[in-house]
Amino acid sequence: MRIDILTVVPDLLTSPLNESILRRAQEKGLAEIVVHNIRDHTPYKHGQVDDYPFGGEAGMVMMVEPVYRLIEKLKSERHYDEIIFTSPDGVQYNQREANRLSLMKNIIILCGHYKGIDYRIREHLITREISIGDYVLTGGELAACVIADSVVRIIPGAIGDEASALTDCFQDNLLAPPVYTRPSEFNGWKVPDVLLSGNFAEIEKWQEEQAYERTKTLRPDLL
Ligand code: ADE
Repeated sequence: MRIDILTVVPDLLTSPLNESILRRAQEKGLAEIVVHNIRDHTPYKHGQVDDYPFGGEAGMVMMVEPVYRLIEKLKSERHYDEIIFTSPDGVQYNQREANRLSLMKNIIILCGHYKGIDYRIREHLITREISIGDYVLTGGELAACVIADSVVRIIPGAIGDEASALTDCFQDNLLAPPVYTRPSEFNGWKVPDVLLSGNFAEIEKWQEEQAYERTKTLRPDLL
């Protein structure tokens, strides 16, 4: 899968996209993440990519042409299944959407700009608008990282133990059960006996019950 991320602050994306599982997935050839600086595609002088809004409100608005040029260039090179714009007024992101996107071959993520982008970009170039939650970030870069991370980690082979992506919170609309590791007792705090019993049928039953109970208590809306 290939993800092209379009931004005016590419440095914000470097580290989150090049560590841990995302780095390994790229090294294994499972994902290719390409970050583009929109400034490199502007026809205006001095790398200008934003301008004052018509109507006179405060704040700068991202101009249509640099984004148009970059998206058209990418589209001339390959077909894109989805062209996403990150914005607090998009549809709320969740695991179902991450699963859907992970099945795609090529996607573009255009990062929002703090005061907004020329609305013609959204009307004519974007196929999906995504919000990662009801709060406002300075720009869409962190949201793009959230999307890239959640999508790439579930590509088969990205996580060493493939089964572990399937047991993630939300994959079956349940929160994950608690996990523990050695020592079995610390400071008088004990690991539940069942996990030390070696009885895998009992362990699985306990994990299912815990997942259900935690979901009922913490996120009843998921049930
Ligand atoms: N840009 C600013 N806030 C955002 C949010 N909550 N989700 C996605 N993109 C954003």
